[in-house]
Amino acid sequence: MSGEAFAAYGARLSIDLDALCDNWRHLRGRLASGDCGAVVKADAYGLGAAQVAPALYRAGCRQFFVAHLNEGIVLRPLLPADATLSVLHGAHPGSEAEFVRHGLQPVLNSLPQVAAWRALAGRLGRPLPAILQIDTGMARLGLDAGEFAQLLASADGLAGIELRCLMSHLVSAEDPATPINRRQLADFRAALARLPGVKASLANSSGIFLGADYHFDLVRPGAALYGVAPVAGQANPLRPVVRLQGKVLQIRRIAAGTAVGYSHTWTAGRDSRLATLAVGYADGYLRSLSNRGVARCDGVALPLVGNISMDTLIVDITELPEGRLGEGDYVDLADPVNGVDAIAGRAGTIGYEILTSLGRRYARSYLGAAEDDALAA
Ligand SMILES: Cc1ncc(COP(=O)(O)O)c(C=O)c1O
Repeated sequence: MSGEAFAAYGARLSIDLDALCDNWRHLRGRLASGDCGAVVKADAYGLGAAQVAPALYRAGCRQFFVAHLNEGIVLRPLLPADATLSVLHGAHPGSEAEFVRHGLQPVLNSLPQVAAWRALAGRLGRPLPAILQIDTGMARLGLDAGEFAQLLASADGLAGIELRCLMSHLVSAEDPATPINRRQLADFRAALARLPGVKASLANSSGIFLGADYHFDLVRPGAALYGVAPVAGQANPLRPVVRLQGKVLQIRRIAAGTAVGYSHTWTAGRDSRLATLAVGYADGYLRSLSNRGVARCDGVALPLVGNISMDTLIVDITELPEGRLGEGDYVDLADPVNGVDAIAGRAGTIGYEILTSLGRRYARSYLGAAEDDALAA
C-alpha cells in the first residue's frame, strides 16, 4: 500500500508472514514425527485467513482448521486440493451435503452428527472422511465417555465413515503444572486404544510444549503461530507477527491540572504535550486499556491517558523531544516490545482476544512469504 493510500486510514497494521511461517516451522520442529496443522478460524485469529493459510501452505502445512462451515467454504478455493480443511463445529443437521460439495471435512462432535454423516455416506455409496472428537475435560464439544462407548457398541457405529483421526482438546495446556493435562492424556489414550490403527490429535499450541506424549499424529496450533506465548510465565520462543501503528491527528499542550477525555478520568500532573491518535475501541483497541495501555516511539513508552473513545485515543508524549511528532506521524500501539501478550496483560484479557479484536478499519499490509510456484501448480 502506498503512502497516499495509508493516509486514508487511522492506523497501519502490518502482518509479517515470514514470522508466521517461521513460527509454524518452529512448532513443527518440536515434533519427532506427525503433522503440524494450523488453526485459521476467526479469519486466522483476526490476521486474514486468505493471506495466512496460503502462506502456511507454501511453508508446508497441509492440515487446516476453521470453526464454521462458512469459514471453510470461503477458504477452500484459496488452498490447493491436497490441503485438508476441517470444520471444528461439525456438520449441523441438514448441512452435510455442503461439506461434500465444498470438499470440507467435519469434526463430528455428537452422536446425531455421526449418524447424519454415516447416512450421507450410505446414500452416496462411498466412504466419507471425518474427524471424531471426544470430550476429555472441556465439557464443550465432542462425545462424552458414555456416548463414545455407545458408538463403539452399536452395530453400524462408524460404518461408511473414513475415520481420519480421533481428537480431543486440552483444557489448560498453557499451565504445565496442572494435573488436568495428564488426566486428559490418560483418558484420550484409553479411548484411542479402542480404535486400533486410528490416528490421533490432542495438542493445541501450548499442548505442543507439554512434550512428545501429547503430540500423537497431528497437532493443531493456532495462537502460537500468531506470536502468542504458549507457556504461562516462560519466555516466548515465537516471533511477533503483528505491528500496529496509530496515526497522529493532533498535538496539543495542556497545563498541569487539565483533565482529559470522556468523564475526565485522567488529570495532568504537570504541563504536558498530548497526541491524539486515530484509533479507538471501534477498531478493537479495547476500552479497558484506558489509562493502562502504552504507545511507543523511538523506544520511549508513552502512556495512554484518559478514556479511549470510539475513534480516538490520547497519548502523553511529554517525554519525547519537542517537535518529534506532528500530525500524520505514526506511533506504535503494538510492536515486538509491546506485543499482544503485554497488551492483553494491561487490558485484563488474553492475547487471543487482542488479536481477534483487531479492527477492520486498519490499513493492512502483509510482509514477506513471497509467493513461489507451489500454489500455482
Ligand atoms: C479444537 C481446537 N483445537 C485447536 C485450537 C487452537 O488452540 P490454540 O490457539 O490455543 O493453539 C483451538 C482454538 O481454540 C480449538 O478450539
